[in-house]
Amino acid sequence: MNVSRIIRRGNLTICICDNAAAAAAVVADHACNAILDDPKAKLGLATGGTPVPVYEMLLERQSKGLADFRNATTFNLDEYVGLSPEHPQSFAAYMRDNFFTPAELNPDRTHLPPGIADDIEAAARDYEDLIERHSGIDWQLLGIGNNGHIAFNEPGSLPNSRTRVVNLTQDTVNANSRFFEADEEVPRRAVTMGIGTILRARAITLLAVGPNKAGAVAAALERKPSLECPASWLQQHADVTFVLDDAAAGGLCR
Ligand code: PGA
Repeated sequence: MNVSRIIRRGNLTICICDNAAAAAAVVADHACNAILDDPKAKLGLATGGTPVPVYEMLLERQSKGLADFRNATTFNLDEYVGLSPEHPQSFAAYMRDNFFTPAELNPDRTHLPPGIADDIEAAARDYEDLIERHSGIDWQLLGIGNNGHIAFNEPGSLPNSRTRVVNLTQDTVNANSRFFEADEEVPRRAVTMGIGTILRARAITLLAVGPNKAGAVAAALERKPSLECPASWLQQHADVTFVLDDAAAGGLCR
């Protein structure tokens, strides 16, 4: 049994799990259900430390014949400005290593926002158009930043924002610095799907684990939606599930 408690608040479901592995397994179930519903589903994917075990579980399930992601189309949430897809710390490299290559996805159907372009603002708008032309995302995976960001929509991002170039806050730069050898290598800008882009996905699953996320999770779920906590706008979505371990759920009034 992976879920120790389920709380339903309108369209919002909160699954609280005993530990991080159990929470990742619930999210892996959601991804597998999306691909079972439609083998050609359009999946919105996330990077960062939190989803690594989810991708491991998806690969394991595919290797056992329990799921098949090879016909999926994917759209990632964000990419650092200035990093080419070949850069080892780019999100493109993360996705290739953790999921796309071992899951044998067709590279023509795996999409990330551009990190490098002659006109990066225009390239960001093109990414939004590409998602539109595919009639939107069926299932979106999200993490949450310590500051409540979703993708790289930092506090102050508008709920109707679309894919665009953003400046990263110092909090986020600090959190990302663990992936880089020197602080000055950590990118200060990114291209991110907007909050409005994310809210257009048909179903959303947000995964948060560990005590560092408890404050952001509580702000997202317990307060009225506000610019201060980008994840709080998810309360307005018709089909969203927060999957938490006990530690990340620690700030909720239960
Ligand atoms: P993390 O990042 O999974 O590495 O904690 C989450 C996020 O910033 O959205």
